[in-house]
Amino acid sequence: MIGRLNHVAIAVPDLDAAIAQYSGALGADVGAPQDEPDHGVTVVFINLPNTKIELLYPLGDASPIAGFLEKNPAGGIHHICYEVEDITAARERLVASGARVLGDGTPKIGAHGKPVLFLHPKDFNGCLIELEEV
Ligand code: CO
Repeated sequence: MIGRLNHVAIAVPDLDAAIAQYSGALGADVGAPQDEPDHGVTVVFINLPNTKIELLYPLGDASPIAGFLEKNPAGGIHHICYEVEDITAARERLVASGARVLGDGTPKIGAHGKPVLFLHPKDFNGCLIELEEV
């Protein structure tokens, strides 16, 4: 059911430093920061030949990234995103298998303008999984 790895998201404590590191030392193609107020994050996309990296930095008072950075002050991998063709069919299959979908289970429009869902990390080996319909 899952397809390509769409992106790996990394929460960063210092966005400017992370941008400088990826564009400088790592020599990557780094996009401009985008504020996503609905998601409580500022996002920077880094285009790699086979996937993307998504740098996440807290935006606003109730950012879902703030608690993660408190527990992981140096930053860390926050989630990975797999592509699916039909997000509703994917949800039904996962719920039937006993997996927990975060929130009310309704797909939301993610940072790429496409429907996304998140799956509970405790059901997936400690890894927060995002599914994106492509
Ligand atoms: Co993501």
